[in-house]
Amino acid sequence: ATSAPTDPAAQGTVLQVSPLLPALEKALAERHRTVRLHELPDPAAYLREQAEGVVAAVTSARFGVANSLMDALPKLGAIVHFGVGYETTDVAHARARGIDVSNTPDVLNDCVADLAVGGLIDVMRELSAADRYVRAGRWGAAPYPLTSRVSGKRVGILGLGRIGRAVARRLEGFDMDIAYCSRGPVSDVPYRYLPTARELAAECDAVVVTVAGGAGTRGLVSAEVLDALGPRGFLVNVARGSVVDEPALVAAVREGRIAGAALDVFADEPNVPQALLESDRVLLLPHVASGTHETRQAMADLVLGNVQRFMAEGVLLTPVL
Ligand code: DGY
Repeated sequence: ATSAPTDPAAQGTVLQVSPLLPALEKALAERHRTVRLHELPDPAAYLREQAEGVVAAVTSARFGVANSLMDALPKLGAIVHFGVGYETTDVAHARARGIDVSNTPDVLNDCVADLAVGGLIDVMRELSAADRYVRAGRWGAAPYPLTSRVSGKRVGILGLGRIGRAVARRLEGFDMDIAYCSRGPVSDVPYRYLPTARELAAECDAVVVTVAGGAGTRGLVSAEVLDALGPRGFLVNVARGSVVDEPALVAAVREGRIAGAALDVFADEPNVPQALLESDRVLLLPHVASGTHETRQAMADLVLGNVQRFMAEGVLLTPVL
């Protein structure tokens, strides 16, 4: 990677590529010479005239940094992501250009896992649907239909990384029979390993998706996997919308071929398929799994730490592997 200058007066520019938390934007601007590319009236002109000065780029997991932007910044040495996911940046392309890449791992594991378990309970016990039932004044007319028991069920974790493990630890508290499908079996967990997503779905009452996004996992939860989950099975997705074949999910929900789904992520955010908006079987959340004051602050601190370290020493605090 390009070494950053240690003399603060000679420090290069930090290019902010996408909107970030206002407090993070402020802190970046106070500590570094920062330019918000997305707010410039003519970003192309800036890149033509000032590209040489940019040594680091900060972006969100949603936007990443395009290859064409990396190519336009000859001195770029680091791309710092706000978020654990970084599939929107082509890391191989960055590496080939000598650019290091970081994300914000670990600090969001608990909140994402909390929300996954909350979503699972919500759809199995139909909490949001029952709330709508009460608000609509339907309670007096008929008792609410019976729902699925949560405790003791078989749950499959698709992607046993840091977040998947945090979900599994929580589910142990509900006496659940936990299985997982990941890159391969691991020896440090007591859970059952299943080699394919289809087998995991076939064996379990619910599947929680926590696998990383990107080309390698696109469409992993296919029509076949949803059929294996079956009409009594539930899906929770706190990973990326791209991991699920969304048209297949819409069809499965509409036709009652799965029991329900809790979705925090979608294929084309913020657009949500109309059929899902109209379904009572799904809990729909606006990509907020890490969205707590505490976690977003910790993510912002990690972004600042990465930028600071890079500007001072030319290395990142939490580089992606
Ligand atoms: C992440 O950290 O990747 C979250 O999905 C926020 O984008």
